Amino acid sequence: MERTLVLVKPDGVQRGLIGEIIGRFERRGLKLVGLKMLQMTEQLARRHYAVHEGKAFYPGLIQYITSAPVVAMVWEGPKAIENVRKMMGATRPEEAAPGTIRSDLALATSRNLVHGSDSPETAAFEIGLFFNENELIEWSRELDDWLLE
Ligand code: RTP
Ligand code: MG
Repeated sequence: MERTLVLVKPDGVQRGLIGEIIGRFERRGLKLVGLKMLQMTEQLARRHYAVHEGKAFYPGLIQYITSAPVVAMVWEGPKAIENVRKMMGATRPEEAAPGTIRSDLALATSRNLVHGSDSPETAAFEIGLFFNENELIEWSRELDDWLLE
């Protein structure tokens, strides 16, 4: 089963949207296996967004992601990476499909509420940045027979 790292970014925490965002993934049937609230340090932010270093938006991105606490989660399920990315919507909210988090709840690319890993390699790397192995909970869910093939 695939796992992906999701962040509710500082704007989501400040706007009181943690529950709304978690609820969408929970209702979809994805399984929560890790959850914590933390204040990202600049060092963690730089590691997490290293791929964007040197881009024009990078300084603002580091400032944004460290400006207030985030909620970090690991969600598990079939095609979890792709399913979460589709539920988040495109990076720019005006390009996000209706019904996605960014289309329904956001207006600005620099305040786009959520992060989701974009490949199996980045998911493994990012999960390791935010969670120790013993913070990821393997649990069996009675509902799985009604959700999964
Ligand atoms: P994320 O990594 O946060 O899940 O977002 P993403 O894959 O949809 O977008 P990505 O290209 O990885 O960009 C990371 C975050 O940087 C901010 N950004 N600002 N002003 C801009 O042109 C710009 N482009 C990207 C956004 O917060 C984006 O989510
Ligand atoms: Mg990205």
